[in-house]
Amino acid sequence: MRILVLGGDGYCGWATALHLSQRGHDVGILDSLIRRDWDRQLKIASLTPICGIERRIARWHELTGHSIDLYVADMCNHEALETAMVRFAPDAVVHFGEQRSAPYSMIGRKEAVFTQVNNVVGTLNLLYVIHEKLPDCHLVKLGTMGEYGTPNIDIEEGYLTITHKGRTDTLLYPKQPGSYYHLSKVHDSHNIHFACRIWGLRATDLNQGVVYGVHTPETTMDRTLVNRLDYDGIFGTVLNRFCIQAAIGHPLTVYGRGGQCRGFLDIRDTVRCVELALLNPAKAGEFRVLNQFTEQFTVNDLAQKVRQAGTEMGLDVEIENVPNPRVEKEEHYYHAANTKLLELGLKPHCLSQSLLDSLLNVAIDYKDRVDENMIPPRVSWRSCAPVFQ
Ligand SMILES: NC(=O)c1ccc[n+]([C@@H]2O[C@H](COP(=O)([O-])OP(=O)(O)OC[C@H]3O[C@@H](n4cnc5c(N)ncnc54)[C@H](O)[C@@H]3O)[C@@H](O)[C@H]2O)c1
Repeated sequence: MRILVLGGDGYCGWATALHLSQRGHDVGILDSLIRRDWDRQLKIASLTPICGIERRIARWHELTGHSIDLYVADMCNHEALETAMVRFAPDAVVHFGEQRSAPYSMIGRKEAVFTQVNNVVGTLNLLYVIHEKLPDCHLVKLGTMGEYGTPNIDIEEGYLTITHKGRTDTLLYPKQPGSYYHLSKVHDSHNIHFACRIWGLRATDLNQGVVYGVHTPETTMDRTLVNRLDYDGIFGTVLNRFCIQAAIGHPLTVYGRGGQCRGFLDIRDTVRCVELALLNPAKAGEFRVLNQFTEQFTVNDLAQKVRQAGTEMGLDVEIENVPNPRVEKEEHYYHAANTKLLELGLKPHCLSQSLLDSLLNVAIDYKDRVDENMIPPRVSWRSCAPVFQ
């Protein structure tokens, strides 16, 4: 298959591009490289030192003989996106190319507006390119489990069958997202659903849980290929952050009471889930939603697991409940369906001692690169963060 990975220089996109290339697909990467600018602006950096995209791709070619075409383009620039898409002529696009940090989107008005414009306009431009130039192309879009929020009923995969005043219909599942970023993903989902209905596009919305881990078989082939690993309070996600905090002797920062429950998955399953969606495409006119996570944990569960793994490695790991910068339920019902990817053949990597050990070891290897000032949460949901004004 010819597959264009949008946002292919990022955490999920880079690992996915290499996985698909290694499986024999013709892969292209389109990325504006804006994520690297945000790192510079916010004075944050990946724990692992990541090489420039051209060097990464050249090394991949040297090691494997596989070529990856690169397009440096902003999805919000319709002409640039269309030119790249028409030139590459993909059978499928995997769309990771968005601003994906909830805290970033809550810094203040400018960042909220930027996040929604970047994500919604980029996706809308993509829908038009597919409709006008490549109508058979399968869109695999990364959504998030955060679109659903934490309702007091079970979360289904995209749709809910409702009986109301004696009549029954199957409708998009109601969404209660928890940040302006998560809202941008809901807006995307609605736009894609609409495009499938009116133009007959084929799309899969992968509502992904929180990703953890850093290595995949391809990114460990050489140091030049190493993936990014964020630990800061803006782009770092909870389990990756906890492992890095444990490695440097920083207390694990549990926000509030720590009963917040979410779906999680290993990055090795991210790449496999995307591949399964590509190999089993949505039908023309179908807006298919798959919940892409393998296990549910509370923040307290994860803190306990990291403390236990760290203690067994001889680390002194403390847990600290810090005031919650977010507005969210800290104790709640959470039960989400995730059977469709299993039915397509996913064999999950469950969170194991060996994964925690390997993540802790990566954190220990690079601990001299940690800037402790980047660890505390700097963005409040209740007010604009003074540090950024
Ligand atoms: N990381 C997670 O835990 C997680 C969880 C759920 C969903 N997701 C979704 O997966 C996707 C990828 O996440 P990630 O962690 O790899 O993020 P990331 O920030 O590491 O990568 C995103 C990439 O997209 C690029 N990009 C952003 N806007 C762009 C634009 N307008 N045009 C072209 N390129 C653009 C960035 O430069 C970056 O390389 C996102 O859509 C995110 O919402 C991620």
